[in-house]
Amino acid sequence: MSQQETQLSPEYLITLGQQFGTPLYVYHAEKIKEQYAKLTTAFRGTNTVFFYACKALTNVNILRYIYSIGANVDCSSINEVKLALHAGFPPQRILYTSNGIGFDEIVEAQALGVIINIDSLSNLEKFGQKFGHSYPVGVRLRPNIMAGGNLKISTGHDKSKFGIPVDQTDKILALVGKYGLRIADLHIHTGSEIKDVDVFVKGIEILFDLIPKFKELQFIDLGGGFKVPYKEHDGETNITELAQKVEQAFANHASVNGSPVNGSGGRPLQVWFEPGKFLVSECGYFITKVNVMKDTDAATFVSVDSGFNHLIRPMFYDAYHRIENISNPTGAPKRYSVVGNICETDTFAWDRTINEVREGDYLVFYNAGAYGFEMSSNFNSRYKPAEVLVKEGAAHLIRRRDTFEDLLRNQIEL
Ligand code: LLP
Repeated sequence: MSQQETQLSPEYLITLGQQFGTPLYVYHAEKIKEQYAKLTTAFRGTNTVFFYACKALTNVNILRYIYSIGANVDCSSINEVKLALHAGFPPQRILYTSNGIGFDEIVEAQALGVIINIDSLSNLEKFGQKFGHSYPVGVRLRPNIMAGGNLKISTGHDKSKFGIPVDQTDKILALVGKYGLRIADLHIHTGSEIKDVDVFVKGIEILFDLIPKFKELQFIDLGGGFKVPYKEHDGETNITELAQKVEQAFANHASVNGSPVNGSGGRPLQVWFEPGKFLVSECGYFITKVNVMKDTDAATFVSVDSGFNHLIRPMFYDAYHRIENISNPTGAPKRYSVVGNICETDTFAWDRTINEVREGDYLVFYNAGAYGFEMSSNFNSRYKPAEVLVKEGAAHLIRRRDTFEDLLRNQIEL
């Protein structure tokens, strides 16, 4: 499948904007499939399984599509677990990587029969007390590796709240001894937007030292965090290189130690990854319409019919999203500040070159599939956008825009 086939054209995006109204999230199913194929192709012949980190985008139609192309799913809350079950994933293909949650949620996840990763000694102890050896469980470790696009999305460093620090492994082992815990996987997730594949290799090497201590291990889980190209020349994590280096790391370890690093019963360990952005970022387009043009000494502001209530990444992470004026693709390039209509500073892009913008034009934000709609809110009592899935050439509305009733739905009027 060529790059061309998996891009929606600007003309088509305009027709979707006209048909469904703006602001509008559009997802292209075949792009998700293309990304998934990159993973499975690079890792073919290896014992590797991919769990889609659905926190990036949980629309149930996306979950069903991801299931249909063969991926498993990684969840970060019990409600994501329930959505995945609702979408049709069987429990054994659902991973729940929890963080800082109450033990009652873990009990609920166990009752639902899903795979569970626990990230604190406290919950691990409670798990041991309640389930002993009867239910396998994974442990999320903090590898003390600094990596990721920015500090807010770095999770593996030595000041991070995530996981049990690797230097506390003895405490984990003590719990294993005390309660007979059946530790089936070791998990690490170092951050998001990691281009350097050596970060993953470093993670594996940390796990290699620990693996022999866990006698019932079957899986190692290296988390998600593959980089996607937000800027034109960013590039993405080289998955082929990653696959080669992962395999090489196992081979090197075997040659140094004289035997392969295996799991329980001498069986080879299965490797897991949890990609979110990699699968759904580029499939997403966020279409907005220009409300107001405002010339000032500081900038020419383009106010679109949206704001950080719909796409928070630029304001929250200083994230860059490519923006194109799809209504005037041949207009003279000019410099603009693209802002929202929210009651506080709400900048999507500062001093950005875009083809001449006029009121009423459609601006599209690229790479908007991951953590776009998913992190949206009703701030300023604005409606959340509609979502559309384009699949096999047809556009389907998969979430209607909010209505006024939605704003009042859970309120109790006294
Ligand atoms: N696994 C775990 C345990 C995670 O915490 C995450 C992301 C992933 C997998 C997937 O990471 P990904 O492949 O999507 O990078 N809202 C931020 C990203 C936060 C990621 C949080 N955890 C953003 O918009 O950049």
